[in-house]
Amino acid sequence: MASPLQPFPDEEDHLDETFISRDFQNLWRCSLKLKLIRPECAKAFHAAGSKLVLCGRDSEKLKDLVQQLSTMTNHQKNTHKPHTVVFDLSDTKTVLNAAEEILRYLGHVDILINNAGVSFRGTIVDTGLDVDKKVMETNYFGPIALTKALLPSMIKRRQGHIVAISSIQGKISIPFRSAYAASKHATQAFFDCLRAEVKQYNIDVTVISPGYIQTNLSLNAITADGSRYGAAEVAQVVLSAVGQKKKEVLVAGLTPSLAVCLRNLFPRLFFTLMATRAKKERKAKDS
Ligand SMILES: NC(=O)c1ccc[n+]([C@@H]2O[C@H](COP(=O)([O-])OP(=O)(O)OC[C@H]3O[C@@H](n4cnc5c(N)ncnc54)[C@H](OP(=O)(O)O)[C@@H]3O)[C@@H](O)[C@H]2O)c1
Repeated sequence: MASPLQPFPDEEDHLDETFISRDFQNLWRCSLKLKLIRPECAKAFHAAGSKLVLCGRDSEKLKDLVQQLSTMTNHQKNTHKPHTVVFDLSDTKTVLNAAEEILRYLGHVDILINNAGVSFRGTIVDTGLDVDKKVMETNYFGPIALTKALLPSMIKRRQGHIVAISSIQGKISIPFRSAYAASKHATQAFFDCLRAEVKQYNIDVTVISPGYIQTNLSLNAITADGSRYGAAEVAQVVLSAVGQKKKEVLVAGLTPSLAVCLRNLFPRLFFTLMATRAKKERKAKDS
């Protein structure tokens, strides 16, 4: 999907997922066939020998991913065939059933990776509250419902690791991404609280905050200044963050990382820059 918007730390212009937007009154959705974090994480953890449960709404996509994993060259090391559980994260009632199915299959969960998400772009004035709610349901309420459902068994075992794939937009808010930034700020806050509350049960919590991810396979390379990461690099970051029990990781280049510092240290300057950016983007959209 071509976007007229200009990059600043312009992450997720290319978010490879159902894209929800009510930009200038139109709700549109599209899916792009690019490289995504879920399959790359699945490959990284499968290669490391994990027994996987892959979740999502689309059983065909999940079947395809299981097939991809079975043909991986280092597949011999992992004898566990991944299991799939199909459910809609935005429907919190189905999340409880899914958690039960996951526990029935695995017995217990060692590592939960909350990766699912939808992106959003649109002006606040033109965005209906239903769209804000939809984004919050998928990006925030779904993951926290699943986390809450699996948490008691982790507490009982005094063991577990919960990962939230957030975004740099959980740390800074970029104009025309209100619903998405709000959902990721909520994610950051929830998992920060959780980390503190479950430390005493030997449960670790990691928040991964990627900036722009270069998800197109052919462009899957880090540029010289390290400003763009591919989904495969993010998956490796997740794997090593779990191994090292890291509390949070910002996966972003220099400019977006500086923007996070600017927001915290010089908020007035950050707000001025964001207002300038918003004006410029709106002008580009209108022209
Ligand atoms: N791509 C970026 O530039 C970028 C940057 C920063 C952060 N992130 C974050 O990284 C995470 C992964 O994003 P990605 O672009 O790489 O795509 P991805 O790994 O494919 O993640 C999106 C997944 O979410 C699942 N999903 C979406 N809505 C769902 C729902 N209602 N119920 C269940 N599953 C649902 C989709 O599975 P099904 O289609 O099978 O339902 C899809 O596989 C997201 O949380 C995103 O916010 C991405």
